[in-house]
Amino acid sequence: MADEIDEYFDFALDLVKSAGNLIKEYVNGIKDFKVKSCDIDLVTEVDQKVEAALIEGLSKKFPSHKFIGEESVADGAKAGLTDEPTWIIDPVDGTLNFVHGYPNSCISLGLTINKESVVGIIYNPILDQLFTAKKGKGAFCNGRQIHVSQVKEMSKAIVSFEAGTSRDEERQVACLNNFKFLITKSQGVRTLGSAALNMAMVALGGSDAYFEFGIHAWDIAAGDILVREAGGVCIDPSGGEFDILSRRVLCASSIELAQELAKGLHQLYPERD
Ligand code: IPD
Repeated sequence: MADEIDEYFDFALDLVKSAGNLIKEYVNGIKDFKVKSCDIDLVTEVDQKVEAALIEGLSKKFPSHKFIGEESVADGAKAGLTDEPTWIIDPVDGTLNFVHGYPNSCISLGLTINKESVVGIIYNPILDQLFTAKKGKGAFCNGRQIHVSQVKEMSKAIVSFEAGTSRDEERQVACLNNFKFLITKSQGVRTLGSAALNMAMVALGGSDAYFEFGIHAWDIAAGDILVREAGGVCIDPSGGEFDILSRRVLCASSIELAQELAKGLHQLYPERD
C-alpha cells in the first residue's frame, strides 16, 4: 500500500505543479467570473481548467480511481464517497481572493482510500508555498518537515475561522457569536480566505486552530491529513469525530485546545455533502 501511495503522490504532485501555472498567470486577479450559489460564491475559467487538467491527468494514469471535484459537483456531479481511491479536488481554494489578486489561493488535492485521507497536496503557486503529506510519512512545506505548535489553551492561541461563501442569516448569527467568543478568549483571530491555507497554517505551527461550518469535502480533504501528519488533530466542531462529508471542521495543534474551542462554539449543522 505504501508503494502505491508513493506512486499516486508523485504523479499527482507533478500535475498540481503544472496546473499551478494556470493560476500564476493571474497574480493580479481576474476580471471574469461567474456566481454560483450566491453573489459571494464565485467560479472562474481558471477553476474549471485546473479541475479538468487534474481529472484528465489522474484518470488517464489511474482509470479505476474516483473523483469529487468542486466544479464538477457544481455542474451536477454527485459527491459520493466510497472505499475506492478517490481524489478530492478544490482547483482554486480561495476563489474570491484569486479574483481580487489577494495572494491566498491554492490548489487543494486530497486522496482518500477507505474514506480516509492518505495524501494531501496544498499548493499556493502565487506565494510558492507547497504543503504535502502522505499517511505515516509526516507533513512538509517546500520540502521541510513541519509540526503543529505546542499550544494547548485558547488564551495562548491564534485561531482562524471563515464566514464562508454564503449570506445565510443563521450562518451570520453563528459567525458573529463565534467571533465574539474568539476575541474574548483567544490571543488573536485570523481569516485567510482559504480553508486549505487556514489548515496549512495550523500544520505549520503559525496558527493554533481553525474551524468552519459550511465548508465542503474538497476544502478540507488535503488539510485533514496535513494537520494530522504535522501532529495535530482534526475533529468535528462539537468535539466528536471528524466526518469529511459533514461540512464541519475543527483542527488544532492539540486535542486540549480543540476541545476547549468546541465547548464554546455556536454550532451550525449545514446540509451534508
Ligand atoms: C472557499 C474558501 C473559503 C471558505 C469557504 C470555501 P472556494 O472555497 O475556502 O475560505 O470560507 O467555505 O468554500 O469556494 O474558494 O473554493
